[in-house]
Amino acid sequence: MRIYAQNLHHVDQFSENGGGFYGWINLNLCPPLSRSRGYFGIAKGAEDQWTLQENRNAFSRILFRPRILVDVSKIDMTTTVLGFKISMPIMIAPTAMQKMAHPDGEYATARAASAAGTIMILSSWATSSVEEVASTGPGIRFFQLYVYKDRNVVTQLVRRAERAGFKAIALTVDTPRLGRREADIKNRFTLPPSLTLKNFEGLNLGKMDKTDDSGLASYVAGQVDRTLNWKDVKWLQTITSLPILVKGVLTAEDARLAVESGAAGIIVSNHGARQLDYVPATIMALEEVVKAVQGRVPVFLDGGVRRGTDVFKALALGASGIFIGRPVVFSLAADGEAGVRKVLQMLRDEFELTMALSGCRSLKEITRNHIVADWDQPRVVPRL
Ligand code: FNR
Repeated sequence: MRIYAQNLHHVDQFSENGGGFYGWINLNLCPPLSRSRGYFGIAKGAEDQWTLQENRNAFSRILFRPRILVDVSKIDMTTTVLGFKISMPIMIAPTAMQKMAHPDGEYATARAASAAGTIMILSSWATSSVEEVASTGPGIRFFQLYVYKDRNVVTQLVRRAERAGFKAIALTVDTPRLGRREADIKNRFTLPPSLTLKNFEGLNLGKMDKTDDSGLASYVAGQVDRTLNWKDVKWLQTITSLPILVKGVLTAEDARLAVESGAAGIIVSNHGARQLDYVPATIMALEEVVKAVQGRVPVFLDGGVRRGTDVFKALALGASGIFIGRPVVFSLAADGEAGVRKVLQMLRDEFELTMALSGCRSLKEITRNHIVADWDQPRVVPRL
């Protein structure tokens, strides 16, 4: 099975059911469309999907100020995240239920991340358990946490992740209720009976009922704790010694609160535009958060990253690294582990080329001066 995609935009087209991906994928080995259709519906955004578009569009409002005549014969993309050395600042965001995309699901993603020398965040709602993912072999993995009403469930899960060798908790804070994802409602999205939310299987919370609208939205309404607040970030630190990344910060105010609450890092994220529509693109919110944090903790970004140039722009605005969501899901559906490896490699190659063409040999050399954003004042107007 081959992927003919040349970049991550092509990979995104996989989400267009039917003709959109005939050109570049051998459909014979794709998961049955009946199984994947509901899943690719959930890969859309919330409501008008304005933020979904904007997550991409905003990157195009940032231009480069490349430096020339720098010896770029050697480019070092390695970096350190929470003390763990990785091969590049490109990591894998948590996406739920990956076995809906491919039978190997999270196993394939874990192996691909490990082969690329980067970090994978495993979703709470994975269709493989923390222990199963750990059994795929060595790798630096973080665990994404949704806080359930039943705190015993949370405590057990966090302890299991810790025991399975996960190195950090990414606490998702933007989902007290599920955003209105109209494609899910239309598809009456639910988990197929053959799959479970593996981490919750033994707790009788692994199944999702079929409802007249989104089964996932009902599940969230039933199980996820809407009272979650800043005190709980402190509470989490009493049940685990793992560092906590707060995922879903979009403002300076919340960035400061996250630091004060003991977060070890922040992920600027709008949940891939699947929660509150009409929030800014993450790349627009990033600099505000970086400034508020004043270097006290690392700041990461996810949302709409599809090009090596996007990775560079995020780093130039102060991110310590980025995560990708949908490209992993679609490449997984297309070609399992090999697909995810290919996506990571494509983004890596593009990022390396961007560094070279901008005159940067290491991540430290990427500065704010290497880009100009359309919100910069005064605007850079060439003098004649
Ligand atoms: C997600 N995302 C997500 N986030 C999270 O904290 N827990 C989860 O279980 C999921 N599941 C999930 C499923 C699918 C299908 C998508 C598309 C997204 C959000 C994800 O971690 C990340 O924030 C975005 O996907 C990043 O945007 P891009 O790269 O998809 O544009």
